[in-house]
Order: sequence, then C-alpha cells, then structure tokens
Amino acid sequence: MKIFLDTANLEHIKEAVSWSIIDGVTTNPSLIKKAVVSIRNSAGGMDMESYIKNILATVGRMCPVSLEVAGLNADTMVEQGMILYEKFNQVAGNVVIKIPVCTVNTVGKGNPFDGLLAIKGLSEEKIPINATLIFTPEQALLAAKAGADYVSPFAGRVDDRIRHLAGIEFEKSNYFPREGIADVSSPENILKDHGVASGVDLVTQIINIFRQYGIECEVIAASIRNPTQVSEMAATGVHITTMPFDVLRSMVLHPGCAKGIDAFTDDLVDEYLDLFSRPESENNE
Ligand code: G3P
Repeated sequence: MKIFLDTANLEHIKEAVSWSIIDGVTTNPSLIKKAVVSIRNSAGGMDMESYIKNILATVGRMCPVSLEVAGLNADTMVEQGMILYEKFNQVAGNVVIKIPVCTVNTVGKGNPFDGLLAIKGLSEEKIPINATLIFTPEQALLAAKAGADYVSPFAGRVDDRIRHLAGIEFEKSNYFPREGIADVSSPENILKDHGVASGVDLVTQIINIFRQYGIECEVIAASIRNPTQVSEMAATGVHITTMPFDVLRSMVLHPGCAKGIDAFTDDLVDEYLDLFSRPESENNE
C-alpha cells in the first residue's frame, strides 16, 4: 500500500519526505486554507504559486500531488484543471487534478453530473484525475467509468455521519469499528449510510467492485483519523491511504516500544559496548 500525506503544510511535507516513506500528497481547499492561515500567522504573506511549486518539487517526480479545482460547474472545472496542470505539472511532472464527483450542495444547488463531465473532459486531455468526496461505491464506479485515475472515498466522514445518525458524541480521532455499529432500537441491524457500515466498509466495497470488473482506477482511502484505521485500510488491499501528518507520526509510536528501548538501554554492558569502538589505528586513518 502506498502512503500519501494529506496536507498542504510544506514543513510537514518536508519532514515526512525526509523519512523516505511518502509516495505522494493530497491537498484540498480546506488544507490549503489551513496552510495559508498558519503562514499568515507566522511569517506574514505568501506567494501561493511559489508555495505550491515548492510542495511539488519537495514531493518529487513519480510521487503524485493532488490539487483541487475551485469551481462547481463542468466547464469551469475543466478550465481550472487545465490551468493548474499547465502552471504546475512542469515542476516535477507529478500533478493530479482533484474533481468532486458531484457538486450539488446542501441546498440542492448544482448539476449532479457536472463532476463526472469534468472528469471526462480532463481525462480526454490526458490529465490525471482524482475524483474526490466519494461517499458510496456507486459514486466510485461512476467516477472510474468517466475516466478518473484515482477515487478518494472519505472514510472518516462516513464514520462521522453514522455516529451522527446514531446520536453518538465523539472526538474526530476516535476509533470507529470497521464492521459498523448496531442500531440501538433494533440491535440485530447494523447502522448504515447509503448501504455503507463504515469508512473501511466503503473502501472494501469499492475495491471488490473494481476487482470484479478489472477497473484500473486506484483507490485512495482518505479522511483518515487514526493509525488503527490505516492498518484496517491496508488489510482491505487498498492501493493508497492518504493521512494527516499527526496520524503518520503516531503510526510509529508505541508505549511497549518505548519501554523496550528503556530496558535495552539500561542493560547495555561495557563488554558489548566495546564492540562499537574502533581501534585507535583506524581512528587515525
Ligand atoms: O483527503 C480528504 C481529507 O482531507 C478530509 O479529511 O478529516 O477533513 O474528513 P477530514
């Protein structure tokens, strides 16, 4: 499974790239806003174009970086996708354009098929597309049919929706069981949102459909909230998981490991440590 970083924070990207385990980066307007606000608060002012170019160069060739369009109708999204691609792909040849699969908003405004039309339009221009805001397997299927190279199911937000339905209070980082949770009023039933029991279930269903038909679109498990969710995503066979910097960092930490480090350090005997000192003659060479 490839690991992408879900952030527009250049410092975090630089640090994660230095660990040599990053295969790509995903951004969206909210992540760009976060980065802009934090820069505004520290150094003051930023040149967005150079900032994005810096991200692309840092992540490097062969490691895709998703940049999202800002418009909501098909023609605008195609135009913006082409502008982003022309402006930025020359830096490291790693730009992927992110298009929402459906741009209808919460008050029902928008044309349901504009996202798919934009995906089709840009894929005909041979521009790589990441179809985002995927909440159902059927949306993923449509995006892949329209020509998306990647689909991004929003796993954590599916879990949030199910907890909201159940009236459960939660912190964003709280674990949500991959098998879902029972409906308290009829405990034999698992609560579902549009046929989906959890974010991991959503990813599993998409992968099964794509395998069934040999669809060559890569699945990016997105909206990841904790390290356990990353392991569960890996077990589904998903191609890529994109995660926030803090989740990536916490994946390597474990109290048992820290305790072991303390014990091993305490137990180091001089006879063993002597193995690591080079003979005087070698030191003088
Ligand atoms: O990649 C999608 C992601 O940025 C959304 O994450 O935590 O806002 O649901 P979240």
